[in-house]
Amino acid sequence: MIKVDSRLVRSCWEKIELAQYQQEYVAVFYHTLFQQHPHLRVLFPSDLKAQERKLLETLNQVINGLQYLEELKESLLELGRKHQDLNIDPALFEVVTGVSVVALKRVLDSNITQEELLAWEQAFRAVSAIMLQGYSGEQSRFGRQPIAIIK
Ligand code: HEM
Repeated sequence: MIKVDSRLVRSCWEKIELAQYQQEYVAVFYHTLFQQHPHLRVLFPSDLKAQERKLLETLNQVINGLQYLEELKESLLELGRKHQDLNIDPALFEVVTGVSVVALKRVLDSNITQEELLAWEQAFRAVSAIMLQGYSGEQSRFGRQPIAIIK
């Protein structure tokens, strides 16, 4: 069961918004991903600006709609299908979840609690699970964990 405390996830995002760190967060996210996993760099275009913008847009939609995640489900399933078309290995979603937490710590420094970090991690895991449900065939089994959103 993936339990997501939506209040804590929003409090993380509010801290980022208050400091106007949204762009920085997505930039640090990709920087951290390629620092820890350099072989993944070739999967992305050399100019990351558009990619950063798209990720930011998805994060805004998901975090603001966390309590109504069902309504976002179709677009996340579609995003998952795109990732399968890109041949993204389902195991990499857990890698990206880890990176999302490291990036949050880097951007907010000490202004974040353990509980908030855990909530953030679980939110990424939940989004990943829905995206993986969008995978077809045998690979969709990686998205089978049930999700509970705590309001
Ligand atoms: C929570 C998980 C993830 C989210 C929210 C996410 C979000 C996105 C979004 C919004 C796009 C743009 C799709 C479009 O152009 O319509 C994208 C593209 C892409 N994602 Fe992800 N992604 C996730 C996981 C991953 C993982 C695990 C990988 C593997 C390294 C990955 C690699 C890529 C690549 C290679 C592209 C296409 C880049 C390009 O050529 O433009 N993503 N992702």
